[in-house]
Amino acid sequence: MKHALCLRLFWGAELGTNFSSSKCIHFWPKCSELLENVDLLPLGANNVLVKMLAAPINPSDINMIQGTYAILPDLPAVGGNEGVAQVVEVGSQVKSLKTGDWVIPKDAGLGTWRTEAVLAENDVISLPNDIPLLSAATLGVNPCTALRMLSDFEDLKPGDSVIQNAANSGVGQAVIQIAAARGINSINVVRDRPEFTQLSDRLKAIGATHVIKEEALRRPEIKELFKICPKPKLALNGVGGKSATELLRHLQLGGSMVTYGGMAKQPVTVPVSALIFKDVKVRGFWVTQWKKDHSKGESAWTF
Ligand SMILES: NC(=O)c1ccc[n+]([C@@H]2O[C@H](COP(=O)([O-])OP(=O)(O)OC[C@H]3O[C@@H](n4cnc5c(N)ncnc54)[C@H](OP(=O)(O)O)[C@@H]3O)[C@@H](O)[C@H]2O)c1
Repeated sequence: MKHALCLRLFWGAELGTNFSSSKCIHFWPKCSELLENVDLLPLGANNVLVKMLAAPINPSDINMIQGTYAILPDLPAVGGNEGVAQVVEVGSQVKSLKTGDWVIPKDAGLGTWRTEAVLAENDVISLPNDIPLLSAATLGVNPCTALRMLSDFEDLKPGDSVIQNAANSGVGQAVIQIAAARGINSINVVRDRPEFTQLSDRLKAIGATHVIKEEALRRPEIKELFKICPKPKLALNGVGGKSATELLRHLQLGGSMVTYGGMAKQPVTVPVSALIFKDVKVRGFWVTQWKKDHSKGESAWTF
C-alpha cells in the first residue's frame, strides 16, 4: 500500500486539546502535529495518481480551518484548496490526461496540502507545463477571480477606470495585470507602510496606473487624480469597513462595487447618498460559485 504525507485537519477534540467548539480548529498547533502518513486509495479505472508540486496557503484556507468559510470539509480532511500536481500514473479508462501532465483542482475542497493523491480524472483540469510553477499553483483562484470581476459587472472599455483596495494582494496584482492588458486604468489603494515607494514602483512595473494610500482617498487632493483619470465605473473591494465606503464615494454615477473579500473583518456600509444620488450597484462575487455555475456544457471553464 502506497502512502502520502498529508497536512490533516481534525476535530479539535481529536487532537486532545481543550478547545470549546467541536466544529473547527480554533488554534494553529505545530504543523508537525498535523502531518500524517495516509494510505493512498487503489488506482481505479477513472483515477489518476498525482504528485503535488506546489500548493499555496490562501486566506480562504485559513477561514476553512477557522470554520468560518462557506464550504467546510467533513473532518478529518486534508487541508489546502489550490495547487499544481503532476500526473504520475493513469487508470485504464482515463482519456483526457497522461503521465507527466500538470493538473490543478477543478473545485475547492480537494485537499492539496499533501505529497501524493489518487484523484478522479474529472476532479482536475490539465494546463500547459511551460508556465512558471508558482503561477500554475496559484492560477485557479486569484487570477480567475480578477478576470471574472473585470468582465462580468461593468462593460469596461480601454480608457475606463477601475479602483480597488488590497491592491498588493494576489487578486489585486492579477487585476492590475489584466486591466493593463485591456488598456483599463487601475487606481490601486494600499495601506501605508515604510516601504510604500518600493511597493508602488513594483505595482506600477506590472501595470498599475496609479497607486495611492488609503488615507489619500479621504483627502481633497484626490480630486486632482480625477482630472487626469476618469472616475471609476467599477470598484473591487477585498477589505470591507471604511475602506469599502471610500471606494464607493469615488465611483461614477451608476457604477458597481463588487465585494469579494473581507480582510478587515468589518461590514460594508453604503452611504445613503451613494444609493440615492449615484444609484451605485453593490454586488458580490465568489469564484467557487462561478466555477460551479460554469462547470458543464459550452460554458465549462477550461484553459
Ligand atoms: N470571492 C472570491 O471568489 C475570492 C477569490 C480569491 C480571494 N478572495 C479573498 O480575497 C482576499 C484577498 O485574497 P488574496 O489571496 O489575494 O490575499 P493575499 O495575497 O494574502 O493578500 C492579502 C491582502 O489583504 C490586505 N489586508 C490584510 N489584512 C487587512 C486589514 N485588516 N485591512 C486591510 N487590508 C488588509 C493585505 O494588505 P497589507 O499588505 O497592507 O497587509 C493584502 O493586500 C481574501 O479575503 C480572500 O479570501 C475571494
